[in-house]
Amino acid sequence: MKIAIFASGNGSNYEAIAKACKEERIKAEVALLICDKKNAYVLERAKKYQTKTYVFTLKDYKDKEEYEKTIIKVLKENKIDLICLAGYMKICGSTLLEAYPNKIINIHPALLPAFKGAHAILDSYNYGVKVFGVTIHYVSAEIDGGKIIAQGVIDYKEGDSIEVVEEKIHQLEHILYVDTINKLILKGV
Ligand code: GAR
Repeated sequence: MKIAIFASGNGSNYEAIAKACKEERIKAEVALLICDKKNAYVLERAKKYQTKTYVFTLKDYKDKEEYEKTIIKVLKENKIDLICLAGYMKICGSTLLEAYPNKIINIHPALLPAFKGAHAILDSYNYGVKVFGVTIHYVSAEIDGGKIIAQGVIDYKEGDSIEVVEEKIHQLEHILYVDTINKLILKGV
């Protein structure tokens, strides 16, 4: 089984998945990293795991369709079975979604359907919620709206700062994403 990870930034989830594959806690290989930002720290992490990496910048293409067609070509060449979005801050267009139906999953740092969007931790913290968590879901045309696969909650203590909440959420993400991907791989995706 071959996984492609899409990421735009720090890449801690990429690293958690790559490490789990290397240690055979996930019975699959991270065959590709697709990144849309040429200075993203995830690219440094990828060197450590020797993951084959491609950087595609949307503005270099006529439109989203051409951009995604280029990505799909690379995914097909590398015989990718599962796509894991891990902090990929782009909306998947219909070109990509139709090429990989039910094969694209995402991790979101809130309990969907609450707090969709790019600033879920800050938004939920500012709202004053008392239960914080993480969602893994299939990616569909509706932003952060696809079928939920797994959710988990953190051990929030009254008075935790946003930094503490963030740290707890990231720790949970790394565990839950690895566990969920492994279950999907064992099921044959
Ligand atoms: C993660 O918290 C992930 O849930 C979030 O981006 C972060 C990426 O961290 N994704 C979203 O907010 C998607 N809407 P990482 O680059 O360290 O893996």
